[in-house]
Amino acid sequence: MTNTVQLHDRTFAIHISDDAINKAVREVAAAINRDLEGTNPLFVGVLNGAFMFLGDLLKHVHIPCEVSFVKVASYEGTSSTGQVKQLVGLGENIKDRTVVIVEDIVDTGNTIEHLVESLKTQRPASIHICTLLFKPNAYTRNIPIEYAALRVPNDFLVGYGLDYDGLGRNLKHIYKITE
Ligand code: IMP
Ligand code: MG
Repeated sequence: MTNTVQLHDRTFAIHISDDAINKAVREVAAAINRDLEGTNPLFVGVLNGAFMFLGDLLKHVHIPCEVSFVKVASYEGTSSTGQVKQLVGLGENIKDRTVVIVEDIVDTGNTIEHLVESLKTQRPASIHICTLLFKPNAYTRNIPIEYAALRVPNDFLVGYGLDYDGLGRNLKHIYKITE
């Protein structure tokens, strides 16, 4: 098996194996099962990046729950534009609901802050953040990241839902960009 993959003009090397990802996903699901029992949470996946994480996460969430999606975009190439575009909004009424926003990665926190502010206007009972990857050294906001499956350094990563200009979302491992 090869440990590197070429996407567009860049080479990426395996950084987190599928086994390590799956273990972290099961752990975060267990915490959600424990904390949110009895609340019938609405999981709101953030497209496109969170599709794979949300699918795997929910196989291990055993409490009654519902699922929906929003679609936003802020990245171009390997860096954030700082502008969050909402491409598809939430159809559900979330007044008095327990909401869990599910992200692939929280980097600066710009996207998550934008989403929390926009969902708050509907007065949900509570909003929780669940992310596969969290870059604590890049994070500049104050919203607590309650459920972070894996903490990662400030490197550009692809795979398991994350892309480099559209490519790499289908990879089962997470890869890190090489110099
Ligand atoms: P933030 O708004 O700076 O927190 O960035 C969050 C969004 O940027 C995520 O939902 C991803 O789509 C994208 N992103 C941030 N870091 C990476 C990365 O390392 N690889 C791929 N996409 C990333
Ligand atoms: Mg992206």
